[in-house]
Amino acid sequence: MTTFKVVTQSTSPYTDQKPGTSGLRKKVTVFQQPNYLHNFVQATFNALSIEKVKGSTIVISGDGRYFSKDAIQIIIKLSAANGVRRVWIGQDGLLSTPAVSAVIRNRVGSDGEKAFGAFILTASHNPGGPHEDFGIKYNSENGGPALEGLTNKMYDLTKTIKEYLIAEDLPNVDISSIGTTSFRGPEGAFEVEVFDATEDYVNLLKTIFDFEAIKNLLARPDFSFCYDALHGVAGVYAKKIFIDELSADESSLLNCVPKEDFGGGHPDPNLTYAKELVARMGLSKAAPVSEPPEFGAAADGDADRNMILGKRFFVTPSDSVAIIAANAIGSIPYFNSGLKGVARSMPTSAALDVVAKNLNLKFFEVPTGWKFFGNLMDAGLCSVCGEESFGTGSDHIREKDGIWAVLAWLSILAHRNKNVSADSKLVTVEDVVRQHWATYGRHFYTRYDYENVDADAAKELMAHLVKLQSSLPEVSKLIKQVRPDVADVEKADEFEYKDPVDGSISSHQGIRYLFQDGSRLVFRLSGTGSEGATIRLYIEQYQSDSTKIGTEAQDALAPLVKVALSLSKMQEFTGRSSPTVIT
Ligand code: G6P
Ligand code: ZN
Repeated sequence: MTTFKVVTQSTSPYTDQKPGTSGLRKKVTVFQQPNYLHNFVQATFNALSIEKVKGSTIVISGDGRYFSKDAIQIIIKLSAANGVRRVWIGQDGLLSTPAVSAVIRNRVGSDGEKAFGAFILTASHNPGGPHEDFGIKYNSENGGPALEGLTNKMYDLTKTIKEYLIAEDLPNVDISSIGTTSFRGPEGAFEVEVFDATEDYVNLLKTIFDFEAIKNLLARPDFSFCYDALHGVAGVYAKKIFIDELSADESSLLNCVPKEDFGGGHPDPNLTYAKELVARMGLSKAAPVSEPPEFGAAADGDADRNMILGKRFFVTPSDSVAIIAANAIGSIPYFNSGLKGVARSMPTSAALDVVAKNLNLKFFEVPTGWKFFGNLMDAGLCSVCGEESFGTGSDHIREKDGIWAVLAWLSILAHRNKNVSADSKLVTVEDVVRQHWATYGRHFYTRYDYENVDADAAKELMAHLVKLQSSLPEVSKLIKQVRPDVADVEKADEFEYKDPVDGSISSHQGIRYLFQDGSRLVFRLSGTGSEGATIRLYIEQYQSDSTKIGTEAQDALAPLVKVALSLSKMQEFTGRSSPTVIT
């Protein structure tokens, strides 16, 4: 058996290793600086406490983006030196973020051991490649992202780190084939086990959904399906689930070969970046198609996000979570005993609130970031949750789950079509959504993103918006000058959240303007960008009048958009006359 020695290397701190909404995300070139990754990983071990790390099992994998393979070998060497007993790696270093969560929660090793935590190597929906983004995020024992207490501790330690432990002579491990490689170090045995990336995750999904019912839906001659992995890690799971398990046709898959640079694309499942799928679904004016599929979906790089489309029809993520919650019982076996509660992030539309109220469900509004749902789920308070940022999920794991969302939608469609014969009309995605609006009213919703804005300009804009909040009559006056048809502002604040489980307080979570008619404007700075600042503007209007719910979203929201741009002095502060992306 190969033996290794442990070396203590001296290092000096970097000052920019503060994890954001979802871990540390930087350009690859930043991560390639000497000891940059080493420092962060060692600080994580130190923050977790070396005593706990010793003898533990740690998962290391990610979305396969550029630099992942190098990073995995480095983290293996650091783990070995810090006394980790066993490292679990998905074949080729690939595991989607939801799959990592499933592995932490469910995988049991040969001697009964479970994982202590995971390093997930991803920058999610950000582009990849030598000049693009890399990222690393630590997930804890519950399968969810490390909580702020831990990430703050990690950050503090990165500011003072002086040395790290490394097994420099440990040979690189072959992560392309399944199997276990064993080594011996000063603390005893150290193992690297490479396993099938789909195993634990697919087994879990099979306990949640009725695969047979979905298979029957996919087999209907009047149903057609298309899934775009945008060259992210979702491709690995799409093949296994949609083709092998559910017998969909290979031609249903788009961009399902994972690539280090996502084929040069931006692996974010929205109407702007998932261009090919959007065109195939008949949603591109420039490239009309005669017979688009009935159902389309896309994932981001690490497969935790999703976009759901019908034939020539876009489902907003805010509607998606509301519709899943409203239909879960009856369509998805996992929920047959009921929903413990539902939750959404603050900027997400209030469509879910209406469902919660009608179905008498516990409801929570949390700050942006999946970790806030985790606490609720651990406490048994939440079954289904979602975010406007194309994240939807449930308490089966502690991450949002792109493929789960697709299977949830397919389950709803399967259920709705159960008694519909193939020669009568299929109940479509659009039918499901329109029926939902007819029952619950519609929340028109859009988000404007201003990416890579000068950081100081963005701060000034936000400060201006906070200042405005001190006089609501003044705000209403400004609004009336721009659009007399927009309601008065009833309340304006900065969102603050007190976690009902651990009592922790998160402040400055977005600037809100709440209107008398239930409309909302929310302004937030993104916590996931890696360059400059990204300003997000969320615009929402509720409509329960059945004669008006069919209006085009952009038309319905035009007055509020105008008010938002004027109140915030967007162009004045940022120099931008239009957003980078509209979702
Ligand atoms: C990640 C998190 C989500 C969050 C999103 C927001 O995807 O996992 O929970 O909604 O980032 O990002 P932002 O850029 O708006 O901070
Ligand atoms: Zn992601």
